[in-house]
Amino acid sequence: MNWDLDFCISLDSPIMNASGVMDTSWDELKQLAVSNTGAVVMKTCTLEPREGNPKPRYGRFACGSIQAMGLPNLGYKSYLEFAEKLKKLGKPVVASVFGFNTKEYEFLVSRFQDSSVDAIEVNLSCPNADVGIPAYNLELMDEILGAISDLGEKPIGLKLPPYLTLNDVDRMARVIERHSVSYLTLINSYPTGLVIGDDERPIIVPRNGFGGLSGDCIKPIALANVAMFRKKLRDVYIIGVGGISSGKDVLDFFLVGADAVQIGTALKDEGISALQRIEKEFLTVLGDRRVSDIKGKALNMKYGQRI
Ligand code: DHB
Repeated sequence: MNWDLDFCISLDSPIMNASGVMDTSWDELKQLAVSNTGAVVMKTCTLEPREGNPKPRYGRFACGSIQAMGLPNLGYKSYLEFAEKLKKLGKPVVASVFGFNTKEYEFLVSRFQDSSVDAIEVNLSCPNADVGIPAYNLELMDEILGAISDLGEKPIGLKLPPYLTLNDVDRMARVIERHSVSYLTLINSYPTGLVIGDDERPIIVPRNGFGGLSGDCIKPIALANVAMFRKKLRDVYIIGVGGISSGKDVLDFFLVGADAVQIGTALKDEGISALQRIEKEFLTVLGDRRVSDIKGKALNMKYGQRI
């Protein structure tokens, strides 16, 4: 399939898994490697392995999902090894890293710069870490980006949280353009949600029931963030993520300027076949157009045009 894609790494398809879903263990990653995913995006890893929070730490509700996973992962060394094995299976591989401080980000990014991954997604927006969300602190962002963005040749992507207004996006965009950032992944789970179950208690246990929201309920927020960053940053690729479960959802993200998309909640709900189904549906709604024909079309602007 010739997708006519424009992205900083060569993708098998514009539709890939979102970090955090089906991508923590080698068994899961192996399945992704032989699926329809455009790239294998690995679970956000930390310096040390982590068990994560007590269960239930993920819950589904009518219009989305809520989670306070607590960064369960096998530690970065395992993902360095997995990346090497995954590369042999043929798909592009993306690492995702989270640091509890700037030094940890620097260390993790430099390790993956010297690895077999194709790109490094720097998670600056985990809603479940007690250190807060770095991407809501402009000075800290400047410091972290200064420390990580020139450590090697592999493209750096930033996984950002939702911002509330165009002014907030503008301030963040001004920080980003001071550094070498190749792409943004927009958006991480919406912090903070709370869902009450039939038993009159929060449906997840950790953090008093507070957690990050994903799925249908955040799609308009995700679309707006993609559109706002697309208007503010000319030279940065954007991966859209948040509430994509159909071909029409994928189309919507391209229409507001995304260059690729990621699937989280739908992948968790349906398993690996979701990727194939959504790709097929997208091809149907795309019809005889090319992806480049539709990018940014809903915003009445030339692709990448700055306002
Ligand atoms: C976790 C949740 C996130 O939304 C994220 O970006 C990274 C990690 C987690 O709690 O495991």
